[in-house]
Amino acid sequence: MKKVNYTAEIEELQPGELNLIEQTLIDRAKAVSKHAYAPYSNFYVGAALLLANGEILQSSNQENVSFPAGTCAERLLLGYAGANFPDQAPEMIAIVAHRGGDERWAGVAPCGICRQNINEVENRFSKPITLLVLCANGNVIRIHGISNLLPLKFDDLNT
Ligand code: THU
Repeated sequence: MKKVNYTAEIEELQPGELNLIEQTLIDRAKAVSKHAYAPYSNFYVGAALLLANGEILQSSNQENVSFPAGTCAERLLLGYAGANFPDQAPEMIAIVAHRGGDERWAGVAPCGICRQNINEVENRFSKPITLLVLCANGNVIRIHGISNLLPLKFDDLNT
């Protein structure tokens, strides 16, 4: 038997350590999280995406009474970007969340399906995406590339 150790590189930044574009993405994600449609989970997620051309897109989660039919903020956003900006590589995505009725920000991290979705977009454009994830304590986790969150990922039908 062979054992393989997997390491992930994850940076934790204090609010003052974000650069202008990172701060803008977090702010945009916070603003759009207010428009989440989340009557079932009461968990309001906002995501903002920087494209290679400098444009910023944003989305929130949109739920459904048939729970699996609902869509995460990140997945909705990446789908919209792929459909409307097929030539622009997504470069960075910020994700934030809060619970309804709670003034504080909640910790969040992309779910497994969204990680697979981010992986697909990275492969499509042959470019890693930087993820910014807001923590409950106000710090931001920065991750360069989905490989750090998705070891042994599935991305090839032929090998
Ligand atoms: N959700 C997101 O939109 N993104 C995440 O990264 C985590 C979870 C949504 C899905 C569902 O509407 C609610 O949050 C609770 O899981």
